[in-house]
Amino acid sequence: MTAIFAHRGFSAAAPENTMAAFRAAEEAGADGIELDVQLTKDGRLAVIHDEKLNRTTNGRGYVKDWEWKDLSKLEAKYKFPEAAHDTGIPLLEDVFEWMRENEIICNIELKNNEFPYAGMEEKVIRLIHQYNYESRVVISSFNHYSLTYVYRLAPDLETAALYSSHIYMPWKYAEAIRAGAIHPHIRTVKSEMIHAAVEHGIHIRPYTVNKEKHIQWLIKEGCSALITDDPKLAISIRDSILDV
Ligand code: G3P
Ligand code: CA
Repeated sequence: MTAIFAHRGFSAAAPENTMAAFRAAEEAGADGIELDVQLTKDGRLAVIHDEKLNRTTNGRGYVKDWEWKDLSKLEAKYKFPEAAHDTGIPLLEDVFEWMRENEIICNIELKNNEFPYAGMEEKVIRLIHQYNYESRVVISSFNHYSLTYVYRLAPDLETAALYSSHIYMPWKYAEAIRAGAIHPHIRTVKSEMIHAAVEHGIHIRPYTVNKEKHIQWLIKEGCSALITDDPKLAISIRDSILDV
């Protein structure tokens, strides 16, 4: 069955990458969440998509120039000014604490393609091992050097190659960099690719899948998972397909 991952949480219904969005994803019945991590000036793992605070928060400048004590006071209510609870920037450990209450899978995207964030991989791996979440996390990145580094440090963890262009036989590429999954942009996905990846034991989880026709197609093709802003819609489509 195709798993439904909520992109930046249920970001169609709540401010992206906040606990409000992750809780909304759980309430909608999502199998997993996807989130983004950046490193603060004092080395904390902050859950936020952009390198800069400007788009999603009431702060300004780069995450890497802020200490957590100041960052933790910001609001990340972008697009949802009326949202009342859990709308600050979370730490990855806040998300991990909440995961104790459920069985959600967490796709951690390392946002280290613009800034290398030295030590980020080690911090994420240490936290995963501290919570014994080895089987509940997937580490993805557009920075594939970082993914191979994660593999060397922690071969027990699943890594996923994120990409947005047309890679030839991406399941072979995944094997070459020792990734357990590919996370392609939806526009690059073909039916044969889904079948080949699954046959080779490589999970395939396209992003960001918001159109009904794409959701239906991926589910019918037996795709491992899909990453969507609207897990409620995807689950209702999956339910209607499984009911037939
Ligand atoms: O992980 C899938 C997707 O989140 C990658 O793109 O820009 O939304 O982080 P972006
Ligand atoms: Ca992401």
